[in-house]
Amino acid sequence: MALSGGKTPVELYRRLAEAHETLPWDQTHLFLVDERFLPLNDQDSNYGMLRETLLTGISMPDENLHPIRTGTSDPMAAADQYEQELISFFKLSPGEFPRFDLILLGIGEEGHTASLFPRSPALNDCAHRVAAVILEDIRHHRVTLTLPVINHGENVLFLVTGKNKSTILRRIIGREDPSLPASRVNPRGGTLLFVIDREASVELGKEMITEIMVRK
Ligand code: 6PG
Repeated sequence: MALSGGKTPVELYRRLAEAHETLPWDQTHLFLVDERFLPLNDQDSNYGMLRETLLTGISMPDENLHPIRTGTSDPMAAADQYEQELISFFKLSPGEFPRFDLILLGIGEEGHTASLFPRSPALNDCAHRVAAVILEDIRHHRVTLTLPVINHGENVLFLVTGKNKSTILRRIIGREDPSLPASRVNPRGGTLLFVIDREASVELGKEMITEIMVRK
């Protein structure tokens, strides 16, 4: 599976660690959806967050962990290196994309997902599996899986919480604006699932919600 960073999944990762016996972690490989180009021990590193919340609570062979290495000279080198890791792990032929069993995504308030931002050339990169993201107005350079990889996923799950995400969530589920990166997530041959809390759902019309599971 490929996991996202950000704040939303922190609680999920902690709970997974508490319930560590419910998943076969020793038979699972963990990849990152995206990473900030920072040392892995920086407090903003996605892998650092994953390590603190989930990895400390589960037991997993080291070779099953696939962080995006940020000790390279630049984000482009890190993206190339991660792409090579995907090619070798999934035994990909040229032009083939990996099929993750699960890709966990978040959504930013302006509609980005993974590190695919509305104005980023990486958003339209269909030739690579991994891209570097260098934008002046984001705090850190990033490395991200590309859209074709996300859209090859078997199960792609958006986890969205909080009232501040309700407007963007309505626009994405309603497919109101195809230029929003998260609107372009559409796994053909896979399942797209939104797991949201009540606050994030306040702007959704009834017709947008096909199935509701309420859990306190
Ligand atoms: C990251 C992410 C990113 C995230 C959204 C939502 O590294 O920031 O992977 O795509 O999922 O920005 O972030 P929050 O969960 O913090 O709102």
